[in-house]
Amino acid sequence: MKLKTILVLALAAALMLTGCHKASAEDENTQGSGAGETVVETAGEEAAEPEEPALPMMETSLDDYPLSTPTDDILVLVNKTHPVTRDYVAPDLVTVASCDNSVGNADTKKMRKVAADAIEELIAGAKDAGYNIVMRTGYRSYDYQDYLFNSYAASYGEEEANTYSARPGQSEHQTGWCCDVGRPGYGLTSFDGTAEAAWVADNCWRYGFILRYPADKTDITGYIYESWHIRYVGLEVAKYIYDNGLTLEEYLGILD
Ligand code: DAL
Ligand code: ZN
Repeated sequence: MKLKTILVLALAAALMLTGCHKASAEDENTQGSGAGETVVETAGEEAAEPEEPALPMMETSLDDYPLSTPTDDILVLVNKTHPVTRDYVAPDLVTVASCDNSVGNADTKKMRKVAADAIEELIAGAKDAGYNIVMRTGYRSYDYQDYLFNSYAASYGEEEANTYSARPGQSEHQTGWCCDVGRPGYGLTSFDGTAEAAWVADNCWRYGFILRYPADKTDITGYIYESWHIRYVGLEVAKYIYDNGLTLEEYLGILD
């Protein structure tokens, strides 16, 4: 195989396994669109990661951006203006059994224990309702997020990457409280518009989750609509946020 072909295939595989990114022509070809229903290729993902990130790593500092609550707190807000430090590792991470093993690595199959139990219940509830859903990506370390963001930035430009991928330290995946869900065997963005996505949007609050990046709140969250990204906040808060159509930022009253 020619070197150029190998590089193109490696990049496509890297983008398939990553988690959060915008629908694009590449998605249509490599992940399968909602219309085309192409099953995801799963081979070669481990080899897809480059040895070095494409751009220099960034450091964040709590001195610049004070956190709303302690980082371990269930209601911690992590976004573009409230980052966590590079050395923060979420505690009590456990592996989620109902996950898509073709995506990510051993770490990304984990969530905080309470959230991991809740996602198992959500997945079981979806099954009872006739929908097959898996957890794709949970916890992501600072360095893994750095790799992801820089991969997107290298492919699509930093400005575009910033609309759908968090910079390192700015992703709530680092807290272990959230995850991306999807249909087994299908790419992330093909979740949009599916019956499974509609079920998740309507029912995740019953299990303590919220849809973190709603379509009509991109100006508040700073990210495009993500049908797949849900955040654990506990039953009571999830119900309140769902009933009132809020984002976490609005619920917490932190809009800076
Ligand atoms: N896609 C979300 C914003 C993340 O990268 O954490
Ligand atoms: Zn996500």
